[in-house]
Parts: sequence; structure tokens; C-alpha cells
Amino acid sequence: MTREITAIYPSNIALVKYWGKRGDQLPCNASISMTLRKSYTEIKLACTPKKNSEMELEYYFEGKSNDGFRERIIRYVCRQKEFAGLLKNYSLRIDSKNSFPHSTGIASSASAFAAIAAAFLKAEDQVTDSQFNRKASRLARLGSGSACRSFYAPFSLWGKLEGIDNSSDEYAVPIRGIHDNFKSLRDSILIVEEAPKKISSSMGHALMKDHPYAKARYEDANNHCRELLTTLRTGNFESFISITEREALSLHAMMMTAKDYYMLMIPGTIYIINQIFRFRELSKLPVCFTLDAGPNVHLLYPGSAEEEVHYFIKHHLTHGIKSVIYDQAGTGGSIF
Ligand code: DP6
Repeated sequence: MTREITAIYPSNIALVKYWGKRGDQLPCNASISMTLRKSYTEIKLACTPKKNSEMELEYYFEGKSNDGFRERIIRYVCRQKEFAGLLKNYSLRIDSKNSFPHSTGIASSASAFAAIAAAFLKAEDQVTDSQFNRKASRLARLGSGSACRSFYAPFSLWGKLEGIDNSSDEYAVPIRGIHDNFKSLRDSILIVEEAPKKISSSMGHALMKDHPYAKARYEDANNHCRELLTTLRTGNFESFISITEREALSLHAMMMTAKDYYMLMIPGTIYIINQIFRFRELSKLPVCFTLDAGPNVHLLYPGSAEEEVHYFIKHHLTHGIKSVIYDQAGTGGSIF
């Protein structure tokens, strides 16, 4: 009899960025992210008992079997010893789909690997509820680093930070005691470029290995994590804005100052950032931006400013925006 498991896990947007890794997908600095609500991956894992010893694993993305992501997923699943029993005894079929379009600045590998890791772990049936998220987070990290943060909402921390007891390089942990100011945080993703990026995040991480500013960058990011932990609990928007924007620009500065330098921002990115600065100054609203490893801009603001910010997006960001995805802080994933 076939057993079917459904895993729905959201993507996340980093506020303090993971950029640079070592060993088996361990981060060179701690990072903090906000888990999204509407941008998620849904995985259906069908497990049918089999008798032969050959591996039977099929992967379909939005109904098609020939997606480039397939190889990465299959390689990942085969590498995890935790999944060996499943691969040996079952014929497996994965059906995956995203709630958001491709190449939009939403990390699809984060939601995909979170959902895959959770579905396989659930199928193994050996994990108690209290251990589930931690184990799934560790396994998801091995697929894509940022995926490990998608198990907690609205914010999570990944990476060992001196003085923060439960923090770990192996898995992410939830951030407790979030101030009301940040619980309703919105993320409007302003799409200026829909084409897939030419340099993958993995290549970007690799360029940190002999980066002349790597040491300072890792220290800076860890300090930003410590400050942001306090900020998220005290509700201080000024500090939130300053850490978040500085992090986004530091990430891109690392790309632009690597030995094999490159630039992912395009004129539309710069135009929007300058418009955000102007709007913030005039409106006095706590709006700010962050960037992923791409040109699209994430506009962050509290729910209370929604009306004014939507007006700003529609009437003052008139050049170069191809589409907008309106997302916000989420509540986490689900599995059944
Ligand atoms: C800029 O998690 O995509 O989004 O571990 O190689 O899969 P891999 O990289 P990935 O890197 C994310 C980089 C980032 C910042 C972040 O999410 O922290």
C-alpha cells in the first residue's frame, strides 16, 4: 500500500546574511531570518513498498520530470544516511510545487529542502514530535544552508553565537520573545529581473574562501546577529533598519570585492533603494530594504504602514518593476 506524506514549508529571507561556508555546509557566521507566509514549497512524497534492491526515486517539479533541480535533490536524498532505509525498502515519488514563480528573489532551495527533509524524516517515522524540527532543520541544512531556518517562525537564528546557549552551526533555533512591532512585518518583493541569476549562491559562498575581507565580514555578521536579537525583542525600528540595510549592502559588497568579482544589482535595484530612502525620510515610516543574492528588492515594513507603503509602491516606484509579491512574516510549516 502506498503511503503519502505532504510537507508544506515556507521560504525565508535573511536579515543577517549567511555568506561563506566551511566543512559540510556549516556557516562561517551566524544568520537571522524572517520566515515567509505565502512563499512556500509543497512536497508530496509517495512511498510504495518494494522487493528489489534497486533504488527507485522519481522527482517531478510542477508535473514535469526534467527539472534541473532534480539532480540536486536526488543527490541530496541519496547522501543522507537517515534516508537509507526508505530508499532501500520503498519506491519513492516526490511531487514538488512552489506557491511563487521562479527567479523572483525568493529562495526556492530554502523552502524545497525544508519540505524534502521534513517529508523524508516523517516517512522514517522514528522521530518524536519534540525532536522533529531540530532534526529536520539539520537535515535541511545539508541540502541548502538557508533551508535550516525555515522550521521556525516568525524569526530564526542559525549559527553558534558566543553567549547564546542553544545556538548551533548544525541547525537553526527559534527566536523567542519577539516584540509586537515585528510580528506583523511585511515583505513586498519588488521584482526588477525575472531571469535566473548567472552566479549561484554556492559559487558566491566559495568566493569567500580567499576573500580579503572575510574575517571582518564574519565578525560583523555575528555582531549584527547579537544586536538584532536584542532589537527584535525591544521593538526598536531604528536599529532594525540600520542592521538590515547594512547587511544587505555588505552581502553585495562581498560579491563586488571578491577576487572573481561580480555584481547582481542592476539600475532598477539602485533606483528602488534610493526611492525607499526618500520615502522613509519624508513619511517617517519604518520602512527598509533587504536584498538576497540577486537584483530584486525586499521592502520590509510593519503591518500598520501597509496602506501608505502600498500607495508608495504603486505611485512612486514607477520604473522598472516587473511585478510585486506581497508576503509577510509567517507561522511555520506543516506536515501530514
Ligand atoms: C544570500 O542557502 O542558497 O540567501 O547553502 O549553497 O544552498 P547553499 O546556499 P544558500 O545561500 C543563501 C545566501 C543568501 C543569504 C541567506 O539566506 O542567509
